[in-house]
Amino acid sequence: MSVLQSMRSFMRRDQVFEFLIPDTPPDLDLTHGVILYLEEISVSFDGFKAIDNLNLYIDDGELRCIIGPNGAGKTTMMDIITGKTRPDSGSAWFGQQINLLKMDEPEIAKAGIGRKFQKPTVFEHHAVIENLELAMAGDKGVWVTLNARLNGEQRDHIDEILHIIGLNQQAAQLAGSLSHGQKQWLEIGMLLMQNPKLLLVDEPAAGMTHQEMERTAELLTSLAGSHSVIVVEHDMDFVRSIAQKVTVLHQGSVLAEGTMDEVQNDQRVIEVYLGE
Ligand SMILES: Nc1ncnc2c1ncn2[C@@H]1O[C@H](COP(=O)(O)OP(=O)(O)O)[C@@H](O)[C@H]1O
Ligand SMILES: [Mg+2]
Repeated sequence: MSVLQSMRSFMRRDQVFEFLIPDTPPDLDLTHGVILYLEEISVSFDGFKAIDNLNLYIDDGELRCIIGPNGAGKTTMMDIITGKTRPDSGSAWFGQQINLLKMDEPEIAKAGIGRKFQKPTVFEHHAVIENLELAMAGDKGVWVTLNARLNGEQRDHIDEILHIIGLNQQAAQLAGSLSHGQKQWLEIGMLLMQNPKLLLVDEPAAGMTHQEMERTAELLTSLAGSHSVIVVEHDMDFVRSIAQKVTVLHQGSVLAEGTMDEVQNDQRVIEVYLGE
């Protein structure tokens, strides 16, 4: 083999050495306008099918509400998307290229899927703005972060998020002194600091006053477009106030999908809710 030939064979794309393959996920490929594909997903716990042949597609930039009676599989579905639970079968893709079932929780978060749990977990003894700084730093450590100087771009990013979540007046206030609703918004802000493309939000309206609910509806609506947002929520008035497309889960699969009016007038949906 000539030197040139061996060079060529060394450079062949399909023969890249293992250590040269980057461990960062490929860029999010949204060429078909779909950000999340869940196909024929099933998972059983001790023989009980919590998710049963679930098919769900989320478009890039859409705000999707997921409703369904207790035990329908809503939380389990989120656990599968974020890598907390591995399904027994099916496939889960983030854009065209990223296979979520081959990644663990930190890798999925890094790839751009952020999850907000029901209970806010802010750093109560730090100022609102410090909470955002800490979220931006991710795993770099508290001491380093709070003593580091931010560059202009980072300051702008924090400022932008403070405005989006409506807490610019409270920036210097301790997070522990915020109302329940404000803490929820701060936590959404902390998620946004990581620049997620897809946000999963579990029961954002729970425990909120009517006014806080209205503000939360505005916030989630404003995030759609530049983000894709999946909201699981029980409060039907809240869902109605933000709903574009609604998916009804029942016994681990999709029972109905459509506008709020369509699903609320669907006889099968009425029956499962009456049965609650
Ligand atoms: N880790 C688990 N072990 C056993 N059963 C589970 C587990 N997680 C969920 N389940 C069961 O799966 C079903 C779906 O639960 P879940 O996803 O929490 O429903 P939802 O969020 O819609 O109320 C329920 O019957 C629940 O008891
Ligand atoms: Mg749940």
